[in-house]
Amino acid sequence: MNDEHSRTLYDRALSVMPGGVNSAVRAAIEPYPFFVQKGDGGHVIDADGNRYVDWVMGLGPLLLGHDLPEAVTAAIQQRASEGPMYGTPTEVEVDLAEFVVRHVPSVEKIRFVNSGTEATTSAVRLARGYTGRNKIVVMQGGYHGAQESTLVEGDADDPKPSSAGVPQSFAEHTLPVPFNDEDAVREVFEEHGDDIAAVMSEPILGNYGIVYPEDGYLEFLREITDEYGALFILDEVITGFRVGGLGCAQSEFGVTPDITTFGKIVGGGFPVGAIGGRAEIIEQFAPSGDVFQAGTFSGHPVTMAAGLETLRFAAENDVYDHVDRLGDRLRSGLTDIVADQAPEYTVVGTDSMFKVIFTRDGPGAGSLEEQCTSGCRQDPTCPRYDYCPKNAGDVTRAETDRWRRLFWGRMKEQGIFLSQNQFECQFVSYAHTDEDVEETLEAYKEAL
Ligand SMILES: Cc1ncc(COP(=O)(O)O)c(C=O)c1O
Repeated sequence: MNDEHSRTLYDRALSVMPGGVNSAVRAAIEPYPFFVQKGDGGHVIDADGNRYVDWVMGLGPLLLGHDLPEAVTAAIQQRASEGPMYGTPTEVEVDLAEFVVRHVPSVEKIRFVNSGTEATTSAVRLARGYTGRNKIVVMQGGYHGAQESTLVEGDADDPKPSSAGVPQSFAEHTLPVPFNDEDAVREVFEEHGDDIAAVMSEPILGNYGIVYPEDGYLEFLREITDEYGALFILDEVITGFRVGGLGCAQSEFGVTPDITTFGKIVGGGFPVGAIGGRAEIIEQFAPSGDVFQAGTFSGHPVTMAAGLETLRFAAENDVYDHVDRLGDRLRSGLTDIVADQAPEYTVVGTDSMFKVIFTRDGPGAGSLEEQCTSGCRQDPTCPRYDYCPKNAGDVTRAETDRWRRLFWGRMKEQGIFLSQNQFECQFVSYAHTDEDVEETLEAYKEAL
């Protein structure tokens, strides 16, 4: 596979951009990332003309794939040609806000911003402003963007900045606990309950190999935050309008957070974030409240139009049936392949998310008949239950080097573009086909 153009472009990029990229994770592909020339349905074509089935889909925003339906393209082009933005409100912001409020059960009011990071940053400030408390409980390995309150590692007894530039005094307000561990959450509330402003969690860890919540875990987070007067922030930047369709993951799991953060799909492929929730909480944002929040580009008309038309298209067509069906086909096909070729590995994901985690131990090929067949559901009756990852630590202990250094490249050689490492998840779009699934499963058979 020729990659001369990508190599030359990366050479140029290294001279003018740190690590040659504009977002750290893009450099995870070694020795250098391939540069994309253009998308085509469920595929991308790189700078050297190589074509790949694309399961990365922009790391999540592209629910409809690379060829946008006519209505979406027309709305984007119209907005762009009418003068891209004005610094004063437009009708399309209200239309998209009304759409989200109508479909997402916990959202009575919403503020749009420009990225998932901005959404989670503002949500944390809002929770602190609303409760008058300082501390935030987060899940180890949960990713909430490049922001000071959540770039924290360690545990609740010893939180530390996970990035240079974050002061230790900031990290001390963040309490990381393992996902799916009720006792750990109970302990931090017993110790710090009167200073905890919020628990912030993804409903499914989407940046750590995909870890599904144990039955009752999200409900537990809802109950304990209520008990201590803290807020429950559900970070649906990945799962929003992907898991559970237009009602998002919260409707699939039947939990009602106080605040939801959105990003990715709600902007239809353009930069976006949003903070939604109970009216009395969201009203605390300036100018109706005293939690300052503002942005030159927030509610950008092109983004709002792309998001609105994408979601309208999803509401009026069989988008979720299609992506969930192909997601199911991928996960069940992978379950069979893994049972045959690498029985210690775990197939994870739900709806249109999927991944294989290279776990080191499994129950043995002979005892897999009763296993979860469409991605790990943390089912205690599944023979894999004692082995499947329950939190980020479990995923870290998987064969992450084998995944990235050996497996990823073998898939790329066969024309399959998977996310950069063991941790980021993969997405099905409306543009993907049954043939893409077949081709991908064949490639997994070769590469595993
Ligand atoms: C769950 C979650 N929250 C927040 C973010 C940050 O979003 P952005 O990259 O748009 O700033 C991400 C990004 O992947 C995410 O997955």
